[in-house]
Amino acid sequence: MGQDVELSGVSMRFGEVYAARDINVHIQAGEFFSFLGPSGCGKTTLLRLISGFMDPSEGKIKIGGKDMRGIGSNSRPTAMIFQNLALFPLMTVEENIGFGLEVRHVPKAKRIKKVEELIELVDLYGTGDRMVSELSGGQKQRVAIARALAVNPAVLLLDEPLSALDLRLRNHMRAELRNIQRRTGVTFIYITHDQTEALTMSDRVGVMSIGKLEQVAEPDVIYNTPETSFVASFVGESNIIDGNIIGIDGDYALLKTAYGSFFCKNPQHMEEGETATIFIRPETVFLAKEPTAENGLACRTKTISFEGSYAVVTLTTEQDQLFTMRLNNDGSTPKLKEDENINVRFSRENAFVLKNGGTPIA
Ligand SMILES: Nc1ncnc2c1ncn2[C@@H]1O[C@H](COP(=O)(O)OP(=O)(O)OP(=O)(O)O)[C@@H](O)[C@H]1O
Ligand SMILES: [Mg+2]
Repeated sequence: MGQDVELSGVSMRFGEVYAARDINVHIQAGEFFSFLGPSGCGKTTLLRLISGFMDPSEGKIKIGGKDMRGIGSNSRPTAMIFQNLALFPLMTVEENIGFGLEVRHVPKAKRIKKVEELIELVDLYGTGDRMVSELSGGQKQRVAIARALAVNPAVLLLDEPLSALDLRLRNHMRAELRNIQRRTGVTFIYITHDQTEALTMSDRVGVMSIGKLEQVAEPDVIYNTPETSFVASFVGESNIIDGNIIGIDGDYALLKTAYGSFFCKNPQHMEEGETATIFIRPETVFLAKEPTAENGLACRTKTISFEGSYAVVTLTTEQDQLFTMRLNNDGSTPKLKEDENINVRFSRENAFVLKNGGTPIA
């Protein structure tokens, strides 16, 4: 069964570079937790710290309540799956899966039984005596998972293990991984730069930018209520508009922007006079019959991209700014043409203003 992993004030410095900076997070036993962030933000570094390939410059890592400082990777209750899988191509599936057990001198009969169980768990039935080099990408993936689970880790660390697979297989393996995690109860710590992957598989997601953990929350909370500009712009699509706060109305702020003046949620309780950025998801923008007093925009349609269940419409505003909306194909929206004058609106509930700055996205 899984164990919890607690990082307190964890920093890792390589010379002048902070690959991790004051990371605080408590990953629960049996949780599927993902670290999500762009390339170079410190994801692999965190996994290496948890698995014991190196110790942090500062801070503490506890697994199952036990301080891990000084405990080498072989003595930690963790296993790791690397991006390139690091399988032995000229060994059979069974030999690969049983490798860790053999190293640990597990008796042969017990080893065979465990390998059989794992082959069933990852759905590799009938491939046991095939060479790994003869397998498909998805099958290799399963061998890597089975091999990592063979040594009964309490925590499985996965470093972008699906990135080499094609889209269809990747989608399939996501569901599969989630399934295996549920069945085994092992704590999964997954890292990825793919937001869909993180949002679909995880119980909770930690979004990282340049060594810093920006927000830790359930996937829907990350998407619906990002706490920083970085999270809002890295996760999902948004219309991003800079402006000045010219008034406060309870939990909402009124901003003056190049597009006009808009009311939006003000979760960081910013004050009048501050410059800030508004985020509006394209799916929260609606057609309006006439120009509306609050949060309305008169626009001209530019491109309409029909995607099946929805259409993405790019618009130019009267002020010559670009704006995007996403219309559901639910029968209720009129068919739009390019170069048509329309009015759109969004609710003050669905727009939010966050402090500028934070980390630019590479
Ligand atoms: N051994 C090392 N020596 C010096 N710098 C390092 C070392 N390992 C990592 N870094 C630096 O730390 C930062 C974080 O690297 P890390 O590999 O953790 O990023 P990542 O989020 O896993 O990126 P990617 O998505 O590209 O794999 C980078 O700036 C990297 O250059
Ligand atoms: Mg990495």
